Amino acid sequence: MVVRAVRGMKDILPDEAARWQRLEHTFRSIVERAGYGEVRTPHLESTELFVREIGADTDVVAKEMYSFSRHDDELTVRPEGTAGAARAYVQNNLAQLEPVTRWYYLGPMFRAERPAKGRFRQFHQAGCEIYGDAGPACDAELIAMCTELVMALGVRDFVVHVNSIGSAGTRARYRDALRDYFSPLAGSLSDDSQRRLVTNPLRILDSKDPRDQEASRGAPSVSALLDEDDAAHLAKLRGYLEDLGVPYVFDPRLVRGLDYYTRTLFELKITSGELGAQDALLGGGRYDEMIQHLGNKKPVPAIGFAMGLERILAVTPLGAPRAGPDCFFAPLVESAVGRSLVLAKSLREHGVSCELDGRGQSVKAMLRRANAMKARLVAIVGQEELERGEVTVKDLDRHEQVRVPFADLFDAVRARLAVPRSSSELSRDELRVPASVP
Ligand code: HAM
Repeated sequence: MVVRAVRGMKDILPDEAARWQRLEHTFRSIVERAGYGEVRTPHLESTELFVREIGADTDVVAKEMYSFSRHDDELTVRPEGTAGAARAYVQNNLAQLEPVTRWYYLGPMFRAERPAKGRFRQFHQAGCEIYGDAGPACDAELIAMCTELVMALGVRDFVVHVNSIGSAGTRARYRDALRDYFSPLAGSLSDDSQRRLVTNPLRILDSKDPRDQEASRGAPSVSALLDEDDAAHLAKLRGYLEDLGVPYVFDPRLVRGLDYYTRTLFELKITSGELGAQDALLGGGRYDEMIQHLGNKKPVPAIGFAMGLERILAVTPLGAPRAGPDCFFAPLVESAVGRSLVLAKSLREHGVSCELDGRGQSVKAMLRRANAMKARLVAIVGQEELERGEVTVKDLDRHEQVRVPFADLFDAVRARLAVPRSSSELSRDELRVPASVP
């Protein structure tokens, strides 16, 4: 039997990986320009971290975590990046070292969800977290950066949804209001939501069960319960978003599926329908209580977001066909293979990318292969070239060839590579990339 990849987990082959690299490069350059530094945390964390911070009644923790015991440890492969980054922030005493910390991360996350279009069991997130700034300007700047990011990635059909879930007191009042609303409807709720009614009625609102969705239709929104400070925070955030010219919709029903949020919540949703129900390209919010909850002496406010890379790649025209080698070496006889290996090695040392085919193919087959892999030049060493200490350099773009001594190969290659590829080739590649991509 053929062993296959685990359901919901995908291989990314080199041509596809080139698009990922382009996306990652754009993400890094935009967030680094805004002062974020990369953090790399372990993919495995204590199960307790996620249970405590994401919440035992969330779908992520209750149903989707890959958890196991090893020796005396209860471990989970991270389902998201926020809790692990916050753990690292506390453990490494960052609050003592700097007033405001801006981190970003990129990498795989794991959730045992039912695979669907845009929904995987191993997926990748690129995210940012800011610690130490409680102000609404920080929220607005982050949301504006998210829109800049998806625009730079060539995504146009999206809407930014913004809400405030309030601080701890508001959430407690909202929980009571939801309990009052859902209790008479308990019989029509799913089994999970009947349990949630007791433990955490807020989670009924993001249940995917149609019975719960139907019952949620008339549920009260949190907006009326916001206290004065929460309402002022939200009003300032909305003002800054307007100053920044970020179009958004205020969405009082946005609650997001993780328990750690306080105040600001936001999501960027694709509107073209390409991703079906999995329309969230990225989501985030404030979580002002987590850092102290994790054992930091003082409270440290925090906010962040994470973007789903598979979803972005499904909707972006961003493309970067894998570049072919600068020079393809075609030794035509076995005795020319050693010399070709040496020449290719020396060109690579000078920064020229080379591939060599030493399988003993005909010149026709070699040229076909060089063309297929979009090589720029072919360095041919046959019996005659070998005897004369020369190499034939064929320029596949300009349809020219020259013969040069081994010692002059680098200069000949350099002279040809300095000439841009023919314009049709360039425009074909460039067209696939939105102009704003750096
Ligand atoms: P999240 O909404 O659970 O938030 O995930 C963020 C994004 O990851 C989603 O909008 C989606 O694009 C992508 N995503 C989530 N699950 C899957 C999946 N199964 N398959 C494909 N893509 C998926 C968080 O994870 C929070 N940690 C975000 C955050 C950072 N909040 C504050 N800081």
